[in-house]
Amino acid sequence: MLFKDNKIDVVLGLQWGDEGKGKIVDAIAPNYDLVARFQGGSNAGHTVFVGEQKIILRTLPSGILAAPMNLIGANVVLDPVAFRDELEEVEANVRGAKKRLCIAKEANLVLPTHKLLDKATEESKGVGKIGTTLRGIGPTYMDKVGRLGIRAGHIFTPDFKEKYQSLTAHHQMLLAAMGFATDAALFKKNEEDFFSAIEYLKTFTFVECSNFVNEQLDLGKKILAEGAQASMLDIDHGFTYPFVTSSNTIAAGVCTGLGVAPQKIGRVIGIMKAYATRVGGGPFPTRCEPEMEEKLRAWGGEFGAVTGRPRGCGWLDIVALKKAVMLSGVSELAITKLDILSECDLIKVATTYTIDEKIVDRMPFETDGDRIIPNYEEFTGWKKTIRGAHSEKELPQGAKDYLAFIENAVGVPVSIISTGPERTELIFRTK
Ligand code: GDP
Ligand code: IMO
Ligand code: MG
Repeated sequence: MLFKDNKIDVVLGLQWGDEGKGKIVDAIAPNYDLVARFQGGSNAGHTVFVGEQKIILRTLPSGILAAPMNLIGANVVLDPVAFRDELEEVEANVRGAKKRLCIAKEANLVLPTHKLLDKATEESKGVGKIGTTLRGIGPTYMDKVGRLGIRAGHIFTPDFKEKYQSLTAHHQMLLAAMGFATDAALFKKNEEDFFSAIEYLKTFTFVECSNFVNEQLDLGKKILAEGAQASMLDIDHGFTYPFVTSSNTIAAGVCTGLGVAPQKIGRVIGIMKAYATRVGGGPFPTRCEPEMEEKLRAWGGEFGAVTGRPRGCGWLDIVALKKAVMLSGVSELAITKLDILSECDLIKVATTYTIDEKIVDRMPFETDGDRIIPNYEEFTGWKKTIRGAHSEKELPQGAKDYLAFIENAVGVPVSIISTGPERTELIFRTK
């Protein structure tokens, strides 16, 4: 029997990343047969816990601990070295992870020179740099779109080494033209490491992405697509271009990233932090003034999961959130870190912007951050800990009002409330 109406559920970030996607995916993964990452690469840092042990997932889907099968999808850019290191760390904590994983043959490989190009490009930009994670993401996607890329499935073909050498020679030429000096001894070591990681990669199961995912759907399997980064970093619609990532992070990216038709998209769960953070360069309209920013960063532990960079912290931005909901047809919200706001005396939420003396509720095309003045609604803090709350009854009225305000402003119901970093620190709302 074919399950023609079976659909893929989606989890994606609605802000500038680090909303807690890893935690939510890990928590709901037992409800699914397959969790599939649809874009991004080791620029992601998704935090999950195995008991007390914190694990940061980068290329692996966050279902790797709890779902029976996981897929690294076609539009993921796969760094074999980062992948091997990550999987070995996961395997050391949870046995059998390797058996629960398959990889799309179409995924593009991140080569050592892609990472050098990322660094060289950033350095060449000086103060205007994007603040990338330096994981080679932009250069790998550039090669993919430029039709120069090497796909994961190519590691089995006899001319793989030739392909590698030809692309690396092209990169060396670019690096030389940029005046970027490479350390030959270090590069040789990195290349050796790359080829040893390629041997490791060969021991995995590879699939043709769209065939595999559609077959699983037809068999009636429950599939969850997991996004990395977030809507405001989308290459086309993230409104602070060029301060974005290089892939489509919105729901449309599930279709291209996994090879499924739009009508196969089911629930779209948008993950949002109860406030806002941003790491890297680019405009951030609702960034707090330094004293409050410092406090939010300390309360929320807002430091990059992979890079350790301090995250910029600010208030919730409804203008940005509404755009993210529109872009992906978000059907429900999962709100994380509500517990962190228990510390605040006063909570602000931006509902509109003033730009050149006009009030707007849509994001503009050009976003010179200084021209945007957010207009805030204010809420008195509830000042009562809600860490680990499991039912809505445990929430103070102030927290309930805050949730109701968001639902009303965005027009989408909140279905999951996260009250702490651990898997079980959650409230599931039933309709
Ligand atoms: P992701 O990239 O979207 O998966 O998010 P990150 O893992 O980069 O950052 C989210 C951080 O917040 C991690 O340290 C999580 O452990 C933590 N976290 C997630 N949900 C909650 C929550 O509801 N409350 C608290 N206090 N921490 C949370
Ligand atoms: P997760 O999945 C937050 C940001 C970088 C930089 C820009 C481009 O953990 O939410 P890139 O390396 O992708 O070329 O960098 O995007 N960025 C993220 N910010 N969370 C992430 O991932 C990010 N991945 C990339 O800081 O501003
Ligand atoms: Mg992260």
